[in-house]
Amino acid sequence: MSSPAAPEVQMRPVEMHIYRPTDPAWATVVKSELCTGKKAAGICRHIELDVSGTNLAGRCFPGQSIGVLPDGVDGTGRPHKLRLYSLASPSRGEDGKGNVISTTVKRMIDEHWETHRLFLGVASNWLCDLQVGDRIRVSGPNGKKFVLPVNTNAHDYVFFATGTGIAPYRGMIIDLLEANCSSQIALIMGSPYQTDLLYHDFFLRMAQQYPNFHYLTAISRERNGEFDRLYVQDRLRVDADRLLPILTGGRALVYICGLAGMELGIFQELALMLNGSTLEQFLKVDPEAMRDVRRWNRSMIHKQVRPTPRVFMEVYA
Ligand code: A2P
Repeated sequence: MSSPAAPEVQMRPVEMHIYRPTDPAWATVVKSELCTGKKAAGICRHIELDVSGTNLAGRCFPGQSIGVLPDGVDGTGRPHKLRLYSLASPSRGEDGKGNVISTTVKRMIDEHWETHRLFLGVASNWLCDLQVGDRIRVSGPNGKKFVLPVNTNAHDYVFFATGTGIAPYRGMIIDLLEANCSSQIALIMGSPYQTDLLYHDFFLRMAQQYPNFHYLTAISRERNGEFDRLYVQDRLRVDADRLLPILTGGRALVYICGLAGMELGIFQELALMLNGSTLEQFLKVDPEAMRDVRRWNRSMIHKQVRPTPRVFMEVYA
């Protein structure tokens, strides 16, 4: 299937490193609330930080991250290292004035593989333990590539998220919908269980309110209504009637945020469902690789399988 020529994508210009980790700003926790269901297997919190009076106010945008410096020292007595957390807030901030930014934090709780002793992620648990009124050191913002385009109305959007990879889309989707953007916007959110979906009620409400916003979930360890277990990329197949028109319209941008590895499955599915110039809007694939898409592996990405400037990726291990 071929589609009209894709317009050039010009990304929103954003500032970076207003505060360096060596000279951070102080922010105050103004809210910390669960953003998963009460019975969720994992614990995620939506944490809001007041940055008023600092140079971060009004200068942090969805798709960027902030650096957080946890209090205390590590096992060797050195101060804890900086950790990056994606912003979940829209451009206007949580308060409408750019003074309150937010992030989405999952408590890291695991076992040491060797000793099988409890292992708690330092920064995530420190952040989730913070109380309203606590003050923390932040740097940034960081990142300029995973942002919205300048001309938001010139594009449609397919946002893929797993887990806390949802954070930037919360801000982006608020930005788009509050500006009455009439583009088609699809959010495909993956989590192990229904109870682990983040900001689920919020996205359901937005989908009800805005007919151009489509919210699709992919639950990997439970049934999904008429479908068995799904990964985000499976939605491309089972919801092709909704997603194919967006992807073949010649205006779509694809954003991928979350678990490293998810991009491979998404690229394979795109290669199976699109062809010719439509696929080339998103992926340049060597003819040899095109012969057996199901056998692709991650080492082929950026080599035999190259995402175009219309695909944005922010994936982490
Ligand atoms: P599963 O762990 O059942 O294999 P969280 O960050 O909350 O754990 O959620 C991550 C989600 O992404 C889970 O549903 C997980 O499924 C799913 N997932 C794991 N690997 C991939 C992959 N390669 N492609 C897409 N989704 C994946």
